[in-house]
Amino acid sequence: MQLKVPAVMMMLAIAAPAFADEPEIFNDIKVKAGEDLFNAECRRCHSVEADRNSYGPLLEGVVGRKAGSVADYPYSEALKNASFVWTAPALKAWIEDNQGFVPGTKMRHVGITDPVVQDFILAYLQSIKS
Ligand code: HEC
Repeated sequence: MQLKVPAVMMMLAIAAPAFADEPEIFNDIKVKAGEDLFNAECRRCHSVEADRNSYGPLLEGVVGRKAGSVADYPYSEALKNASFVWTAPALKAWIEDNQGFVPGTKMRHVGITDPVVQDFILAYLQSIKS
């Protein structure tokens, strides 16, 4: 058993360069999974194509954007008058309980409580910066 430790360490040392890109690969996987989840949970109401609102506002570039600020989209008073920016934590809170986060919004309650699903959808939203 004791002999195996150095062997494992040697294997790790040899294999390490192969994993050098792991964070990037892992992020790509998250983005792809997030896209599938977005297509299942959000796309029927939201477009991600430039300058195209749908029933809901365009979400391309939403990360870092002021809430309620897409021109020509008829927001609820609640979102139009909101004065925050869509950061990662704000988007997670919205995905989890949008009506609790901005009472009076006209987005029907989505309510995704699984933090992994929230994280994947967020990774996808971050990947579609305009
Ligand atoms: C049933 C339709 C519907 C679904 C499904 C839906 N949305 Fe929405 N969404 C809306 C509407 C309508 C608004 C505008 C709300 C308002 O004006 O109060 C909105 C607004 C938003 C906003 C605010 C954008 C801005 O410009 O301030 C974000 C972010 C958002 N949705 C993300 C999502 C995500 C992520 C999902 C999937 C997890 C999702 N939505 C699912 C209809 C929907």
